[in-house]
Amino acid sequence: MSRAPTLRLDRLLASLGYGSRREMQALAKNGRITFDGAPMTDADKHVPLTRDLPDHLHLDGKPIDPPPGIALMLHKPLGTTCSHKEAGPLVYDLLPTRWRMRDPAISTIGRLDKDTSGLLLLTDDGALLHRVISPKNHVAKRYRVTLDRPLRGDEAETFGAGGLMLESETKPLLPAVMETLSPTEALLTLTEGRYHQVRRMFAAMGNHVTALHRESMGGLDLPADLEPGTFRLMTDADLAAIFA
Ligand code: URA
Repeated sequence: MSRAPTLRLDRLLASLGYGSRREMQALAKNGRITFDGAPMTDADKHVPLTRDLPDHLHLDGKPIDPPPGIALMLHKPLGTTCSHKEAGPLVYDLLPTRWRMRDPAISTIGRLDKDTSGLLLLTDDGALLHRVISPKNHVAKRYRVTLDRPLRGDEAETFGAGGLMLESETKPLLPAVMETLSPTEALLTLTEGRYHQVRRMFAAMGNHVTALHRESMGGLDLPADLEPGTFRLMTDADLAAIFA
């Protein structure tokens, strides 16, 4: 039987951004931390890092934040940036403030442009991040594209053949699948993630992308009830769907 790893209570809470280890020791002494309802007064004690830890471990009667190994799906709204540093609204501003103090930090799995909306995954788990973005795993990303001008008619064939060379790149693109939805709308599915790839692919065909929305990653669709600007924790089934 595999046992969950454990972590000292003060270390765990400090890593989740609740405060310093010294402060966590004091909270525990004051009986403000409970495990299954019983006060945990000794913050040197270890707790198991299971996914359901918040069901057991409470601070001031409230479940603690998800332990390390967090994975989220966010409906990225237009106008937000996938950066920890830039000015202006960041995707990280959409998460609870305390989560900014987490160590390991939560990062986006790949990026979407400021002017792109849709499914964005975030995690503090480096192995998961690499598994999703590794070209070896061919996680397909499907985008709904709105164009300035009507499609010419040869885009699906050109993208599908692979080999398209984007400006200032030295390596040709892999084949991509395009489905026409209307004269100015298409679904484009990519298995790589180059800088501004969708916009540059249509620019190479003499067109201009006016709206871009990511609908899915692998077999994981953006849930219809996940409103722009909101997020939810990913379940094991969601994680499996990415690689299905
Ligand atoms: N391609 C783009 O051009 N922008 C994105 O955000 C994602 C893919």
